[in-house]
Amino acid sequence: MNNTTPPTECKAWANLAHHAESWRTVRLRDLFANDVARAVQLVAEAPGVRLDYSRQRLGAITLRMLSHLAVDRGLPEWRDALLSGKKVNSSEDRAAWHTALRAGGSLPPEVHATLERMKRLSERIRQEGKIRRVVNLGTGGSDLGPRLLADALGDATLDVRFAANVDPLDLRRALEGADPASTLFIVASKTFTTQETMANAMAAKAWGGRFFYAVTANKKEAHRFGASEVLPMWDWVGGRFSVWSAVGFAAACALGFQSFEEFLAGGHEMDKHFADAPLEKNVPVLMALCGVWNTNFLGAATHAVLPYGNALRLLPAYLQQLEMESNGKRVDREGRAVGYATAPVLWGAEGTVSQHSFHQLLHQGTQVVPCDFIDFGLDENLSANCRAQADALAFGTDDPSLPPHRQYPGNRPSSLLSLDKVTPRNLGRLIAAYEHKVFTQGVIWNINSFDQWGVELGKEMAKTILSGGK
Ligand code: F6P
Repeated sequence: MNNTTPPTECKAWANLAHHAESWRTVRLRDLFANDVARAVQLVAEAPGVRLDYSRQRLGAITLRMLSHLAVDRGLPEWRDALLSGKKVNSSEDRAAWHTALRAGGSLPPEVHATLERMKRLSERIRQEGKIRRVVNLGTGGSDLGPRLLADALGDATLDVRFAANVDPLDLRRALEGADPASTLFIVASKTFTTQETMANAMAAKAWGGRFFYAVTANKKEAHRFGASEVLPMWDWVGGRFSVWSAVGFAAACALGFQSFEEFLAGGHEMDKHFADAPLEKNVPVLMALCGVWNTNFLGAATHAVLPYGNALRLLPAYLQQLEMESNGKRVDREGRAVGYATAPVLWGAEGTVSQHSFHQLLHQGTQVVPCDFIDFGLDENLSANCRAQADALAFGTDDPSLPPHRQYPGNRPSSLLSLDKVTPRNLGRLIAAYEHKVFTQGVIWNINSFDQWGVELGKEMAKTILSGGK
């Protein structure tokens, strides 16, 4: 934990930089041809999630060297600190203890009590039938998580909608066909000061909204606003890690509380795996190490996430906040400008739709984009396409008789994450895996993954402009 030297100054980094040189000319096609075991060896399993990273441009030795780097950066100690609720968010002097929200049998009492309230309230809403429309008003971490869960797994019991944009059209759409007498608004805002959310909450009142709940760490403001139920958040839960908290209330309404509990249980399983599995078999750690290798040693500037299934179409948007708000940082924990790349730009879309849009660039563009293909085994067609895209990127074509525009260079890295169906538990496992990946990369890059000071300046400037200043 006390290793404050920049990662670039440690021996493991220098070794990796040297090692990367020898990988410039290695071709994935040859690696697979020369080593039949590769496809089964470069694989790791966590509960419900199989990671196949054999199509990454690395070998077992690379992995060992990357693990040394992680150990050198103090990953095991940082991991213990994160999971035991130590103040790992140094610039805000706080813990980032989202894992305590899904800790199964050892939930903190206030978390347990809040879950009991969420259960009681969501079950009443779903059973009584008086409320037919639920509208979540929140943005960023107070929107993307419950929106993703509701979109992926919501049932037909309630019509659960979301409005995040300050553009009035967003709320108007969320209220199409709704009746104030049967509409519940959930104002979700950790601070209860976010301008967009507050503007939408006021607009909901002006529309005639009668029923308002709040989810916030700012109880006083929520009561002043007139919320009849105020579900708590805590300062030790960051917005983009808050889907596991009462911020997930809209999701509990959309899915049913039992499914929401399954989601928490999946997250907890991944926490245990992250805590216990050796680094070289640890799925989130391996995801992080592949990312560091691609970003810092092979020069990738972006990273694409491609979930194969319509249910997960919102996953890339969710991961954009998780990864880029966490690790889009230019100074390290000591406040020094970093001399190495941190988070790549994350983007993506649902496969197979993405194939008919931007995969052209993935296969033949001038930029190499490492990809995460996510296969939920939903149907043969989806799985075949998912696997085919990963193989085409890795192996390309080897037919010199084809004209140049029909050539596929291949050698483009990807990982294949396989899960068995889209279930609440699997979604919990998957999201928690990405959270721990982000944390692991933050540790290696010596940055604080839990603050987001970069968003403040623009907010202040907008306020000034709105109040008539320059
Ligand atoms: O502006 C960024 C941000 O602070 C995110 O980190 C957060 O998830 C979002 O705004 C919403 O914040 P709040 O829940 O306080 O309204």
